[in-house]
Amino acid sequence: MSVILPKDQEKIRYSGKILAFLLNTLKENAYPGNTSKNLDLLANDIIISKNCTPSFLNYNGYKHSICVSVNDTMIHGTPSDVPFKDGDMISIDAGVCYQGFHTDAAISFICGKNDADIKEKLLKTTKEALDLAIKEVKSEVPVRKLGKIIENVIMRNGFFTCYDYCGHGVGKKLHDLPLIFNYDEPECKDILKENMVIAIEPMVLLSTSNTFVAKNGWDVKSTNGCLTCHFEHTILVKKNGSEVLTS
Ligand code: MF3
Ligand code: CO
Repeated sequence: MSVILPKDQEKIRYSGKILAFLLNTLKENAYPGNTSKNLDLLANDIIISKNCTPSFLNYNGYKHSICVSVNDTMIHGTPSDVPFKDGDMISIDAGVCYQGFHTDAAISFICGKNDADIKEKLLKTTKEALDLAIKEVKSEVPVRKLGKIIENVIMRNGFFTCYDYCGHGVGKKLHDLPLIFNYDEPECKDILKENMVIAIEPMVLLSTSNTFVAKNGWDVKSTNGCLTCHFEHTILVKKNGSEVLTS
């Protein structure tokens, strides 16, 4: 389980602040015509300049510092030379490590000019799922409750949650226990404890829950080509609430 003792919390706080700054800066640079490869290079420069390291680089053989997932790619999008265009639904996911302490976060947004209200609704719903789950976080709360909230928000809005990937403990490792499901999982028996650090990451699909991994071994896509959306924060569990480390 991903418990970070109070004496180390300043370090993970710093990691989270850098990650929040990084994602903001990358979003500003995700304009039509730019590429995810350029964002990856920029991300690497920023992370190094802040005395941190990119958590994703070389993780399970991953060759980049960030994931950039566009439209029907939900997560783990590998940086490419394909230029962004107006209306693209872009998700940027990044991990930052400072003195051995990882944080993990993702944002989604529409590139340039939006061309469809449904994209706004997808963004709003995914963000709301994350925000409502975060509101529930405090010590002694069952992890199962978070999945229930996430799934409810998504279904109530007519969208589809992801059963294939989930959130996780984070801190000394990029991926740790407990697993934070994006749906109500009856087998999930974990209880949140004070000083645990978790990454909550709802993934929402427009018209199917089904995903597949592309031939490059990374990009996770919706099977029917529908739009997808993903937000993630790293959160420190406190006795009577929580602290969002990546904002
Ligand atoms: N950010 C992903 C997660 O939220 C992990 C990406 S690992 C990588 O769990 F190797 F694909 F980059
Ligand atoms: Co994560």
